[in-house]
Order: sequence, then structure tokens, then C-alpha cells
Amino acid sequence: MKRSLMIIVGMILILSLSSAVLAAGIKNTKHDLSAGSTAEIKSVGEDQICIFCHTPHNAIVPVPLWNRSTATGSTEFQLYMNEDTIDGTVSNDLAGTVSYMCLSCHDGTTALNNYGYDPASNPAVSGPGVTDGKLSSPAALGKDLTNDHPINITYAYGQDPGLNNPDTIVCQLFDNTVQCGSCHSVHDNTNEPFLRMSNAGSALCLDCHNK
Ligand code: HEC
Ligand code: HEC
Ligand code: HEC
Ligand code: HEC
Repeated sequence: MKRSLMIIVGMILILSLSSAVLAAGIKNTKHDLSAGSTAEIKSVGEDQICIFCHTPHNAIVPVPLWNRSTATGSTEFQLYMNEDTIDGTVSNDLAGTVSYMCLSCHDGTTALNNYGYDPASNPAVSGPGVTDGKLSSPAALGKDLTNDHPINITYAYGQDPGLNNPDTIVCQLFDNTVQCGSCHSVHDNTNEPFLRMSNAGSALCLDCHNK
């Protein structure tokens, strides 16, 4: 009797653990804008998840099969700069970067349902914090990113003694640059808010900075 109870408890544990692993995808996170999502901001009619960002064919931006265009021009953002201490090289043109992709929703100028080549025919995306179909603050960072962590900056390991060896960090560099996607993993909200790793005790910051 006791033994079969233990087996049942064990099976429940295994089941709940495996469903926790399965849940660590994009489905039902705030990045699941599909009509069936449990997120508050979502489409009134589109049931696909990936389509808001990717398409298998005829992508607007080839890599990574990107299905969105951006209302703000790629050179219209103001990025963090500190002439005295910054060692990396900041490029003010975001064209083709992961950051520009994030900002196609997160600068608050492009409608969330602006995907594909005929956005006018797409069902609306709405919810709390969405104004005229676009994100509003705080999820919309705007175009002035001078008060946000540096992005589109080279990871100047070797020049800046305060940076850890890029070969040993968990965070993701893109072509040796820091982008939004360096700290955030867009498909996985295990470490809220969509972080590459937990920031408990500032662990994320200390992944790159040896302060
Ligand atoms: C909210 C936007 C968004 C949605 C929705 C989204 N992705 Fe992505 N995806 C991105 C961005 C941005 C990148 C590039 C940055 C990165 O890899 O972190 C990317 C990269 C990828 C990559 C290549 C890099 C990697 O991580 O393997 C694959 C594969 C991918 N996505 C598949 C999917 C699939 C499949 C879905 C739907 C189930 C999906 N994505 C939904 C934004 C999105
Ligand atoms: C298709 C539009 C879209 C794209 C592209 C997109 N996001 Fe989001 N993101 C959203 C929406 C919608 C929310 C929910 C905002 C809210 O609840 O106010 C969100 C929320 C977030 C949050 C906050 C989550 C929380 O728990 O508060 C983070 C962080 C985030 N996104 C980062 C990113 C990053 C980094 C990228 C690029 C790698 C990206 N997003 C690309 C639509 C997008
Ligand atoms: C150096 C790491 C890092 C980079 C680069 C970064 N973020 Fe974040 N982001 C974070 C952390 C950490 C948080 C959580 C802050 C908190 O909870 O106090 C966060 C929070 C957010 C949020 C939630 C709303 C808010 O203001 O707290 C959004 C949306 C977001 N980031 C989007 C972006 C976008 C878009 C980019 C690129 C323009 C970006 N992030 C670049 C680390 C980063
Ligand atoms: C993916 C790696 C990475 C992560 C994670 C990261 N940073 Fe950075 N950070 C950098 C790089 C690279 C620079 C630019 C350094 C340089 O070129 O001098 C920078 C610059 C800064 C600066 C500006 C320094 C200056 O000279 O003005 C501050 C402050 C900072 N980071 C704080 C943080 C905090 C706080 C966190 C955690 C929320 C964090 N960083 C996470 C890579 C990272």
C-alpha cells in the first residue's frame, strides 16, 4: 500500500517536472501573441505563434527569417555613450541587428500586428498597455536609448579589464557585439523577464562584468 502510494507520488513528480520543462518555450508567454495565448496582449484572430516574428519563406529580413518591418529608421535611435570610460565601438546604425528586431515592437512606433507584406489585412493585436495597436511604456523603450544599457557595442575584451572572457559567458554575443538578445532570450521566460540567466544577486550582470 505504502509502496504503491510512493510510486504514484513519484509519477506525479515526474509528470509535473516534465510539464515544467515543456512549458519553458514561448507558448503562453508575453511573446505568444496568438489568439489562443493566455497572455493579455494578443491577436483577435491569428492563431499562429511564430508568424508575428518569423516566416518560412520570402522573409522581409533574411536572418532569422524575420517577418516584420520597422517604422523607425535604423539610424534614428540615440544609444548609450560615455566618452570617458567606454572602450567598445558603438554603431549608431541598427540595420540587421537583433536589437532592431526587438525594437520593431519595443520602441512603440510600429503596430504589433505589422507582420508580413500585407499588414493591413492582419487581425488587430490589443490588450492592456497597447495604444493604437502599438506598445506603450514601460514595455516601449522609445527611440532615446541613452538611458538604457549600451547596445550595438563591440565586446571590448582585452581593452576593458572589467569584462569577462567571452568564451566563458552564458550571455549571447552577436558578431562580438552586445544586443538586446545578449541579456534576453526572446523565446523563453524561465528567468523573467525573458532573461538569458537569472539575475538573482546580479548574476546576469556579473556574467560579463567582473565588478
Ligand atoms: C516576439 C518575436 C518572436 C517570436 C514570436 C518568435 N521568435 Fe524566434 N527569434 C526571434 C528573434 C528576435 C530571434 C533572433 C535573436 C535570438 O536568437 O535571440 C529569433 C531566432 C530564432 C531562431 C534562430 C536562433 C535560435 O535561437 O535558435 C529560431 C530557430 C527561431 N527563432 C524559431 C522560432 C519559432 C519556431 C517560433 C514560434 C514557435 C519563434 N521563433 C517565435 C523572435 C521571435
Ligand atoms: C512582435 C512584437 C515583439 C517583438 C518583436 C519583441 N517583443 Fe518583447 N514583448 C512584446 C509584448 C507584446 C510584450 C508584453 C508587454 C506588456 O505586457 O506590457 C513583451 C514583453 C517583453 C519583455 C517584458 C516581459 C515582462 O515580463 O514584463 C521583455 C524583457 C521583452 N519583451 C524583451 C524583448 C526582446 C529582448 C526582444 C528581441 C529579442 C523582443 N522582446 C521582441 C512584443 C514583442
Ligand atoms: C545588459 C543586459 C540587458 C540588455 C542589453 C537589455 N536588457 Fe532589457 N532588461 C534587462 C534586465 C536585467 C531587465 C529586468 C530589469 C528589472 O527587473 O529590474 C530588463 C527588462 C526589460 C524589459 C521590461 C520592462 C522594464 O523596463 O523593466 C523590457 C521590455 C526590456 N528589458 C527590453 C529590452 C530591449 C528591447 C533591449 C534592447 C534595446 C534590452 N532590453 C536590452 C537586461 C538587459
Ligand atoms: C552580455 C554582456 C553584458 C551583460 C550581461 C551586462 N553588461 Fe554591462 N556592459 C557590457 C559591455 C560590453 C559594456 C561596454 C563596456 C565598454 O565598452 O567599456 C557594458 C557597459 C555597462 C555600463 C556602462 C559603463 C560605462 O563605461 O559607462 C554599465 C553601468 C553596465 N554595463 C552595467 C551593467 C549591469 C548593471 C548589468 C546587469 C543588469 C550589465 N551591465 C550586464 C556588457 C554586459
